[in-house]
Amino acid sequence: MLSRRLIVAGVVAAVLLPSLSASASHTPPNPAGETLRALAQRHGLYVGTAVNMDALQDPAESRYRELASTEFNTVTAENVMKWEALQKEKNGPYDFTEADKLIDFARKNRQKVRGHVLVWHNQVPEWLGKGVKDGSISKTELRAILERHVKTVVSHFRGKIWQWDVVNEAVTDPWDSPPSGITYRPTPAAGAGDNQVFWADHLGPGYIADAFRWARSADPQALLFYNDYNLEAFGDEGPMDKVQFVYNMTKNLRAQGVPIDGVGSQGHLSTQYGNYSAFQIRDALDKFAGLGVATAYTEVDVRSQRTPAVEAGDTKEINPRLQGSAFNYSALLQGCLMSRKCLSFTVWGFTDRYQWTNDWEFGGEGRTGLAAIYDTNYNPKHAYQSMRADLATAGAPYVQPRIPQKPKR
Ligand code: G3I
Repeated sequence: MLSRRLIVAGVVAAVLLPSLSASASHTPPNPAGETLRALAQRHGLYVGTAVNMDALQDPAESRYRELASTEFNTVTAENVMKWEALQKEKNGPYDFTEADKLIDFARKNRQKVRGHVLVWHNQVPEWLGKGVKDGSISKTELRAILERHVKTVVSHFRGKIWQWDVVNEAVTDPWDSPPSGITYRPTPAAGAGDNQVFWADHLGPGYIADAFRWARSADPQALLFYNDYNLEAFGDEGPMDKVQFVYNMTKNLRAQGVPIDGVGSQGHLSTQYGNYSAFQIRDALDKFAGLGVATAYTEVDVRSQRTPAVEAGDTKEINPRLQGSAFNYSALLQGCLMSRKCLSFTVWGFTDRYQWTNDWEFGGEGRTGLAAIYDTNYNPKHAYQSMRADLATAGAPYVQPRIPQKPKR
């Protein structure tokens, strides 16, 4: 009798125990201790930050280095790969010292590097702007100078750059002058100065295709991106819709066989505007992906107005801003996660201690700030926690691993 009871007890235990231990293993791991880069890995997504090289090398800023290396698995040079930082004199040598330090930092921390930026109207060397203005640099010479620049920089970093921002911000905004009609270019226009049409004015719109071809010839492996702001969501898809313009431009470039592999959406947002839902973000990214290109969020930050009350530390004014910022970081990240060709999500500086919007007066917005995911003392903000929660809770069927992009030949 006893032995029969024992047998029954054994059978019951054998049936029950696996399910008990299975239910124990159903306790999910706690994402609270995980970094952004660890949580993003499951999706094949890279999470990045722009890096301020002064902060990175400041002996007093060990926390900056620690977070830059542990939280992110891709980095972008905030300023040191820009032309003005690389070539101070006309026909002078290139100084890659600072940029190479970032490459080294990335290698040590197993991070991919986004190259920023080859062709932009801003932060070009003083000699170049002056020479174009006073006519001492002719159009023919300017084209040769640009070709040499693209090839020199891309060759220097050959094999070390994952994604290059080849052309940045070449398209005007609807509120730019002229205010109506066909606002968007690149097309040659008279009298343009230091703005989006600088290169088109002097070289004609073909410079974009040329720049991609020059870049490809210097590094066949790097993914080549067009990068711009205000690309989050399509508007009415008409002639005043900047996103539609960039879409058409990308389509035409691809149709001509130009080696453009990706479109980068910068993602500079502000909490005072209506902004977008995650689904609008996903739809826009998917529409670009339909052209065969990869996408990426390349410079995300969500600033707020610094009113006198914010400056005085009034939490009633600060809290809604922190929440608004977190919501927008989330919308962009969730949209990116839902679009399988969205390869990386980079924030433009991870701490309010070093964040460009702090020094920037945005026209009607006035003084801004509070834009990063860590505060000035490196405390994680709501935005950081929202990003972690988004990465931790996302999965099939709506979020699937990334689809890698091959460089277009
Ligand atoms: O290099 C000079 C230095 O010699 C001088 O002592 C110092 C004094 O102010 O200024 C330094 O230049 C600053 C430069 O950053 C390098 O630190 C400029 O004043 C400053 O205006 C410049 O700002 C950068 C801005 O691009 C220029 O347009 C920001 O740091 C950088 O975050 C920002 O990044 C751009 C992306 O490249 C493209 N998309 C938009 C994004 C935000 O504007």
